[in-house]
Amino acid sequence: MGIIIDKTQKLFTLQTSNSTYQMKVGKLGDLLHLYYGAKVSSDDLSYLLFDGEAHFAAYPYGNDRRNGSLDILPQEFSSCGTGDFRSLGLDLKNSDGSHVANLKYKGFELSNGKYQLETLPSFFQTERDDVESLKIILADEISKVEVELSYGVFEEKDVITRSVKVINRGEKEITLNKIQSLILDFSGGNFELLHFYGRWAMERQSEIIPIGHNTISFGSNYGVSGNRQNPGFIVMDATTTQNQGNCYGFNLVYSGNFTATAEKASLGQTRITLGLGDNSFTWRLGEGESFQAPEAIMSFSSKGLNNLSHNFHNLVRENLCRSKYSQESRPVLINNWEATYFDFAGNKLIDLAEAAKEIGADLLVMDDGWFGNRNDDNRALGDWFVNEKKLGMSLSELASQVNNLGLKFGLWIEPEMVSEDSDLYRAHPDWALNFPNRKPLLGRNQLVLDLSKEEVRDYIYKLLVDIFDKCTLSYIKWDMNRPISDWYSMDLNTEQQGELQHRYVLGLYDLMGRLTERYPDILFEGCASGGARFDLGMLAFQPQIWTSDNTDAINRLSIQEGTSYLYPISAMGAHVSVSPNHQNGRTTPFDTRVNVAMSGTFGYELDITKICESDKRKAKASTERYKSYQNLIFYGDYYRLDTLPGLKAWQFVSKNQEESLVTVVDTDVEGNPPFNYLKLCGLDENADYEIDGKTYKGNVLMNAGLRLKQSIGNYPSDQFYLRKLS
Ligand code: GLA
Repeated sequence: MGIIIDKTQKLFTLQTSNSTYQMKVGKLGDLLHLYYGAKVSSDDLSYLLFDGEAHFAAYPYGNDRRNGSLDILPQEFSSCGTGDFRSLGLDLKNSDGSHVANLKYKGFELSNGKYQLETLPSFFQTERDDVESLKIILADEISKVEVELSYGVFEEKDVITRSVKVINRGEKEITLNKIQSLILDFSGGNFELLHFYGRWAMERQSEIIPIGHNTISFGSNYGVSGNRQNPGFIVMDATTTQNQGNCYGFNLVYSGNFTATAEKASLGQTRITLGLGDNSFTWRLGEGESFQAPEAIMSFSSKGLNNLSHNFHNLVRENLCRSKYSQESRPVLINNWEATYFDFAGNKLIDLAEAAKEIGADLLVMDDGWFGNRNDDNRALGDWFVNEKKLGMSLSELASQVNNLGLKFGLWIEPEMVSEDSDLYRAHPDWALNFPNRKPLLGRNQLVLDLSKEEVRDYIYKLLVDIFDKCTLSYIKWDMNRPISDWYSMDLNTEQQGELQHRYVLGLYDLMGRLTERYPDILFEGCASGGARFDLGMLAFQPQIWTSDNTDAINRLSIQEGTSYLYPISAMGAHVSVSPNHQNGRTTPFDTRVNVAMSGTFGYELDITKICESDKRKAKASTERYKSYQNLIFYGDYYRLDTLPGLKAWQFVSKNQEESLVTVVDTDVEGNPPFNYLKLCGLDENADYEIDGKTYKGNVLMNAGLRLKQSIGNYPSDQFYLRKLS
């Protein structure tokens, strides 16, 4: 039983295998939050509520000062004008200009299965899941504004999904100024925040900061979830480690602007919020109209950060993306971007495909530069017509030559963009986002198409369908290479311009949804200047995303590790590139580049025709090795291992504990290096495991550890495969 309801007490308890979440309607009809944490019985926990006097507080009219101030009481969904002065879940303007929505409990609905959202991607249940959904309805008696809070309880997977919908049941128009998908109030707390910041080529770096007596606020105003901050984050006790302690993880199924806060208020009560970005956001709701906010997810672990990641990995892998590839092995690809950049013809790609075939790759991807007059990144986006002159052949000829070699064929596109120097822009300048009577801001010399317009989406859709149908296409890399600015749409009236940022994302999901549905056999991979849109919204349509344009194995350690807290390994594009590396000039051994790229959807991104014979042999063996481990890497449990400084190590363990793969990279080789023992995780304690012909007990490997060789050389790495013997 995932959801337990005591109707008389108006008490709602959500139970997952290892966590409990409880809320209750308070004396004044407010929906209060009582508990989220390690699993406890479903008893009423309202004794936890503060019953002292509220000082310097605003409390409901005619009530005792004790107990009534919403600035102090923990709430499920905080709203404007109610005496809660902290970060709010909802801010709206009524037709008389007042900002108030006094939301009181109205009722609930319980259903089997996972609720679905109409216009936005959301998690779904499979036959293997036991999911229940709860909807709680809150309403403002005067304005008739209603709010529906939905909860999906993935009991076995230890995750709760949440979503919020606002419905205007009144006769007069209201305007939303802010709506968050998740509010979580703790009646106390001494937490730290683990968040993932970054920049182009250094995405999702981990940083831990204390949540002190202030509000930490972060988010994205880049129009996409962005590379500066990820919408996923973790709140934890200061003592929490990878394998011990309490931690809470949060994420948003959304690819546009977002905002998140962690706030510790006067009495130590801590509030977490996560939802749509509210910078310039407004949304008008006429009589009977509603607004659906994106879905958020949360999970609790009392067993540290690795376990929390497993909860997210299991759910994201199985319950988010409808592409058949989310459950299938993925092709080892070779992409020509770092091999040729814009300087290629069809014959060069065929040479690349031949060499790729020799090393066992499955798919050749033709990256940017195959269409219109696109010989550099200043022009031709939007002109999705094959440049046969440059290729020296038609697209179908190229694809069939690649296919004849036994490789699949894939293509790069950037459908959301238009270059100023393009036929499309010359024909439809009003299709690009642009403030009236001003020159637009440029990013990589390109403009953003107004995807809120149906006619723009239809036009791009048709062009892409024409191309996709021209050849046997197995893969698409969907890129997006600039932040979005100049938020103004010719189609929207003055009051609606604040809706554009969200309408853009809805348009994007519509376009992606139509294409991914029409081409179920094409594997789609997301990309945004590398990993600038690595989020659950994109992963709902595309099972993998190019993690970063930075392919340096050593920088990739922190990029991939940061990403691994929230997203499964099967979602991370990771390629072997040339050394010295094109992004930072570092020289690393081939084996280390392979070992790091093996923690993701593996591929190559270099001119394989030019590598030496010894690297070619290594590449062939590496491709084979990756293919034999892919299931373990994709579906096993992933552990970040504790190491001495200067080392990074991680481990995959199959769910049945039969096999495991450990990788360790030395980023800082010292003279006379210290002894190093790597304590493994997740093994069967009593079983014997074989590593390189030697046998160790699981409990020995997990407690005494694996003895590592003393490192020597430039960024050396090692990989150990463990097989259970008994
Ligand atoms: C972006 C991507 C790269 C490559 C180029 C092509 O930068 O992240 O992988 O596709 O665009 O222009």
